Amino acid sequence: MDNFILTNNVSIPCIGLGTWENRDENTVTNTLLAALNLGYRHIDTASVYSNEMFIGKALKNCGVDRKSLFITSKVWNNNRGYSKTIKSFEKSLNDLQTDYLDLFLIHWPASVTKYDNWAELNAETWHALEDLYKSGKVKAIGVSNFWQHHLEPLLKVANICPMVNQIEYHPGYQQQNVVNFCKQNNILVEAWSPLGRGKMFNIPELIQIAEKYRVTVAQICIKWCLQNGVLPLPKSTKPERLQQNIDIDNFTISDEDMNYLNSLDLGSSSGQYPDEVDF
Ligand code: A2P
Repeated sequence: MDNFILTNNVSIPCIGLGTWENRDENTVTNTLLAALNLGYRHIDTASVYSNEMFIGKALKNCGVDRKSLFITSKVWNNNRGYSKTIKSFEKSLNDLQTDYLDLFLIHWPASVTKYDNWAELNAETWHALEDLYKSGKVKAIGVSNFWQHHLEPLLKVANICPMVNQIEYHPGYQQQNVVNFCKQNNILVEAWSPLGRGKMFNIPELIQIAEKYRVTVAQICIKWCLQNGVLPLPKSTKPERLQQNIDIDNFTISDEDMNYLNSLDLGSSSGQYPDEVDF
């Protein structure tokens, strides 16, 4: 599998396995073993997914060298602030049964509408990530669900620029403003729900393009992310779909079709917007 290179030269496998809502131990174990067997090395989790301990156990026993794995986790909203973030990181490390993470993210920005001190809160959380990075316990740090108005004040006080921003991104919800801002600032964009949680599968324009290339809509969505320089994190528990979601090397979407897909404004986001929702 190819890699993206982050600004600090850390190499990150260009497709990651999403694990949101995968909480049952057997399912987590079977999914991970199937994915590793197929060649996945990049696993995306978060403390709020409640599966870190199952992932840790499965990875410990899978026979794959830790150094060849890329593991991401995220600090949840109830642990914002310096010391709570450090504690949350230590718990993730412990549950994942490892002594370092490859990437650690702030899961959601503090809501602009809920907190008067949202910018300070994001900065405090960020300074904890910076210190974890400097200590060598995490190889790269970043944010998730940050929009430009969250990133701008953070960049002003950051000693280290976020290397990643993980956002909802699929042909139905393209977030061009955030993507462009990240690209201008050398922040790699990762796509959560690159298949729109399955909502992309019934969209006629996507079905038509998939038929043209003789691939599935899932493969079009994943390839579309990659050709736009965005790292997809598709989620599946089914071996045949896991296989399909990385089997995307034998076709290239033409510039014309990329332009067409990029011009679609399908308006089908998950409805989870930073600032409006602070879980
Ligand atoms: P399942 O786990 O049963 O395979 P997203 O990554 O956008 O959040 O989408 C995840 C959803 O899409 C899950 O419901 C997953 O179900 C389904 N899914 C993942 N890959 C495929 C695929 N290649 N074909 C059809 N459905 C898929």
